[in-house]
Amino acid sequence: MKVFYSIQEFRDWRTEIKGTLGFVPTMGNLHRGHASLVKRSVESCDQSVVSIFVNPTQFNSSKDFETYPKTLDQDLKMLREVGVAAVFAPSALEMYPQGFVHKVVRAKDEQRILCDAKRPGHFDGVLTVVAKLFSIVQPTQAFFGEKDFQQFRYIVEMTEDLFFNLQLVPCATEREPSGLALSSRNGRLTDDAKAQAAKVWSWICKEQLNSSDLSARLQAHGMELEYLEDHWGRRFVAFWIEGVRLIDNFVLGDGGPKLDEVNA
Ligand code: PAF
Repeated sequence: MKVFYSIQEFRDWRTEIKGTLGFVPTMGNLHRGHASLVKRSVESCDQSVVSIFVNPTQFNSSKDFETYPKTLDQDLKMLREVGVAAVFAPSALEMYPQGFVHKVVRAKDEQRILCDAKRPGHFDGVLTVVAKLFSIVQPTQAFFGEKDFQQFRYIVEMTEDLFFNLQLVPCATEREPSGLALSSRNGRLTDDAKAQAAKVWSWICKEQLNSSDLSARLQAHGMELEYLEDHWGRRFVAFWIEGVRLIDNFVLGDGGPKLDEVNA
């Protein structure tokens, strides 16, 4: 497995690659959720690339950015085992050279919803870095987890608007046996908090709770609801527990979670 830290070295390698190239962009601190995206890429493409880059422009707090876990050696070991051809792990200065002026912003004059309403500038940061990565990696397919469904939707729209020539593949959310969606943020939670968070998943799947019912229930269990809203045929939730913000979503109707599999 090749590991590239500079754009030029990566591009030199890319010019030699024939056939399909799958791509999984990540911020590192890889877990089983990332592994399933990478496996999907390895199975369906001739070669696969994973990027590891903690993108400063998508964080709303500098503390959150600075304390984001960095586990490069462990991540590289896992990616080697799964059969990735190359890893692209640039520095912040490589991706945002001094004096850069351009970024990607959503131009639509629309009401901001869900995380877009709660995290100003977050998606501009995500779209900017993903556009840069698409331009460098030149993948034929890119794989994204449905846990971040709003992010996936916005990337689909950007890909269409900017004519990036690749296929975007949404992948089902990986979960703990309790139902808790896998996330790098879970590593900051105690076992008790993880069990509580899994209950939230169970409540929203099994019960027809409205936002104020759920908010009251979360408060009674020491958590804080940020939103419970339906969009694009899905129900979305964001809440805080032990100072950590978690998000999740599921498809409404027949394609939704099978209730006997929701354990907590
Ligand atoms: O989903 C993530 O891990 C990040 O938002 C992404 C897509 C790698 C961009 O930094």
